[in-house]
Amino acid sequence: MKKIGILTSGGDAPGMNACIRAAVRAALANNLEILGIQWGFDGLIRREIMPLNRRAVANIIYLGGTILGTARSAEFMTSKGRQKAIKSLKEAEIEGLILIGGDGTFRGGTQLAEECDVGIIGVPGTIDNDVYGTDYTIGFDTAINTALEAIDRIRDTAIAFNRLFLVEVMGRHSGFIALESGLAGGAEDLLIPEAPHSMDELCRHLTKNFKQGKRSAIVVVAEAEQPGRSFRIAQEIKDRIGIESRVCILGHIQRGGTPTARDRILASKLGAAAVTALLNGKSGYMVGEINGNVAYTPLRDTWEKKKELHPELRELAKLLSD
Ligand code: F6P
Repeated sequence: MKKIGILTSGGDAPGMNACIRAAVRAALANNLEILGIQWGFDGLIRREIMPLNRRAVANIIYLGGTILGTARSAEFMTSKGRQKAIKSLKEAEIEGLILIGGDGTFRGGTQLAEECDVGIIGVPGTIDNDVYGTDYTIGFDTAINTALEAIDRIRDTAIAFNRLFLVEVMGRHSGFIALESGLAGGAEDLLIPEAPHSMDELCRHLTKNFKQGKRSAIVVVAEAEQPGRSFRIAQEIKDRIGIESRVCILGHIQRGGTPTARDRILASKLGAAAVTALLNGKSGYMVGEINGNVAYTPLRDTWEKKKELHPELRELAKLLSD
């Protein structure tokens, strides 16, 4: 193998740049040429490709976002789009490709690995942490710390006013961000996609809490597939038990910012491991980290299998919330 490529795709996540840096430096240390593909699969189709050297990745370890840019490519999901992408790979003489992204990226990557002989290795990068085959994804730790800082700030004003707040965090199909930021922030309740909430239960719990002497409370709501759903939930709480609340939607704030040390370390480890995997002739796998060790999972499993929320953390959040 002489030349490899790297791209970022789907929602950007803090630590993607640290991962690009690690992959570039590990590739160069192994005498591989490395090309950066801009704007995810769209850029591959359009051949927006640039050479990367050591200096191109200098001083990016602490930057959020991705220097390569990203996209959610509808064209790549079509067979015609993938054929164009394969042609670009051939013309650029790319023999191995590193994909940094989440489940959507790996769906595309699985198909690409089946349709061409270029080595394909995925690296999990998404704030949602909803990728099977790794304990944590790059960006998750930063996102929960960003959400936690917001929850702490909201707590100040909630206490000052004796108010109920709904803080909405990201997580399209999963409640990892809600669970971990909520547990760390002492949330009174969590609404997560894995456990469709019952308004009865939520209202009963809030009423009990207020009867027991609580004067303010924070409910962390995962946006699920309906960003902004907290406004509807707030109205329903008011209609049912007469408690007024305020809503704070954290949205894309959670996607940006300086990656935490944890995310930079994970990104560095997995970026280098992706290069090693390609050099060892692996293809169609994601490199992740399980119990502190690098682990390889077939790309198909990363999105076909469901990564479960830690049941004991859910129980603990419940136990401590009264
Ligand atoms: O990156 C994952 C994610 O942040 C989800 O939590 C969220 O639902 C989605 O991306 C938002 O995506 P977009 O960038 O298209 O608004």
